[in-house]
Amino acid sequence: MGEAPLDALMSLDPETFARESRAVISFLAGYYRDVEKFPVQPEAMPGGLGALLHDTPPENGEQMDVILEEVWRHIVPALTHWQSPKFFGYFQANASTAGFAGEMLCTGLNIVPFTRAASPAATELESIVMDWMGKLVGLPDRFLFSDGGGGVLHGSTCEAVVCTLAAARDRALSRLGHEGITRLVVYASDQSHSTFQKGARLVGVPRSNFRVISTTAASGYGLTADSVREAVEADVASELVPLYLCATVGTTGLGAVDPVRDLGELARNHGMWLHVDAAYAGSALICPEFQHHIDGAELADSVSMNPHKWFLTNMDCCCLWVASPAALTSALSTDPEYLNNVTEESAAGAGVVDYKDWQIALSRPFRAMKLWVVLRRYGGAGMRAYVRRHVEMARWFEQALEADGRFEVVAPTRFSLVTFRLRPRRDGDDDAVDGLNRRLLVAVNASGRAFMTHFVVDGKFVIRMAVGGAMTEMRHVQDTWELVRDKAEEVGAVLK
Ligand SMILES: Cc1ncc(COP(=O)(O)O)c(C=O)c1O
Repeated sequence: MGEAPLDALMSLDPETFARESRAVISFLAGYYRDVEKFPVQPEAMPGGLGALLHDTPPENGEQMDVILEEVWRHIVPALTHWQSPKFFGYFQANASTAGFAGEMLCTGLNIVPFTRAASPAATELESIVMDWMGKLVGLPDRFLFSDGGGGVLHGSTCEAVVCTLAAARDRALSRLGHEGITRLVVYASDQSHSTFQKGARLVGVPRSNFRVISTTAASGYGLTADSVREAVEADVASELVPLYLCATVGTTGLGAVDPVRDLGELARNHGMWLHVDAAYAGSALICPEFQHHIDGAELADSVSMNPHKWFLTNMDCCCLWVASPAALTSALSTDPEYLNNVTEESAAGAGVVDYKDWQIALSRPFRAMKLWVVLRRYGGAGMRAYVRRHVEMARWFEQALEADGRFEVVAPTRFSLVTFRLRPRRDGDDDAVDGLNRRLLVAVNASGRAFMTHFVVDGKFVIRMAVGGAMTEMRHVQDTWELVRDKAEEVGAVLK
């Protein structure tokens, strides 16, 4: 085993950097070539990796080829292969050549743009790319820097949501005084992402003041303004203060859509902050045929979406736009002397974006580079074609299900997420059908030939087929349909 004890002293030597980076790239190219052949989800026993690797780090550095060999032999076989074209679970975490190139530039340059002074071009590129993305997804101008709003790149929607909740809280408490915090109420639906509940807790909203409003099949599992109004009015009558309402465009479980305009009007009437969470479906909004889903976004205070899901941008990358940057920065800004650069420009200061004041952490990567490279490399037309291809494949899968009398589609397929289950054959079969669907999902995943996840709605176990992988082609979706049919037959014998 090669020892390289002094390599840490020259760890950015350009020759070594080029050689070893090339080795990693050919390793990854080989992985992408073969990824389709791996079982999408491994059969990995808990603790299995610990048994294969040393239990202390090496004292002397090893050669990159030795390390890569170990990755291939021990780690890759126990991974769930998110880049497999047959990965249909959760929502995708897209990777692409441009996303990787952008990530390499971001990682290689390794600058830390927490203030504009700390890296002017990185800050400016982030503002430019946020305006680009805002225009692409059809946001109203008020979210663009060019119109007084603005955007920031976070690592995740969860971080973005906490920041908007803090901004909403501080806006309300400036009116109510700090004691008012116990009266603040946050509203979400039973389909909203769990991050809203966590975020509300983190910013000090009492747990008992988080309202989960029920949705039904009749509204496609979207909220109705009436149900929110009823909850809000009951709270107001109890002298509570409506603070924040979440509208989701493309919910995690079912891909449902809340009516943004109706909720926006209600939020305005009650002085609530409206956040539009389009973490997954935000990517589809670049296509004009999907933009009606954010009709009314001009009534929102903030909007977010994740290019790291379905927009060919490697992890991590979340776009957050706000109509009032001041509302965000007044909740999040700090002014330590050690970050104040003594330059004429910083003395001039006003209007300068210091992204540390738009997020929780101080240090931050150069994510703008990654998203900018993706946009430059594929362009709006390329990205629209990419999204539409998945939407088409999802529709094909949905039609195949509908044509086969044994299945039902549970929620309307609005984007590229299909939710389905084997249907009960007669009333009273519900428990048996749930068991059957569980077995179907287990059988599909155990085959290694596809990977899906599940959801439960109205007490029903539902299988989710999220189409959106960078390497997914129609043949993968068709093979997966064959697989689902075969496995349904295999497990179906159990139900009388
Ligand atoms: C609708 C929705 N909101 C929020 C999230 C959380 O996103 P993140 O993992 O970036 O925090 C998800 C994740 O799937 C989601 O689907």
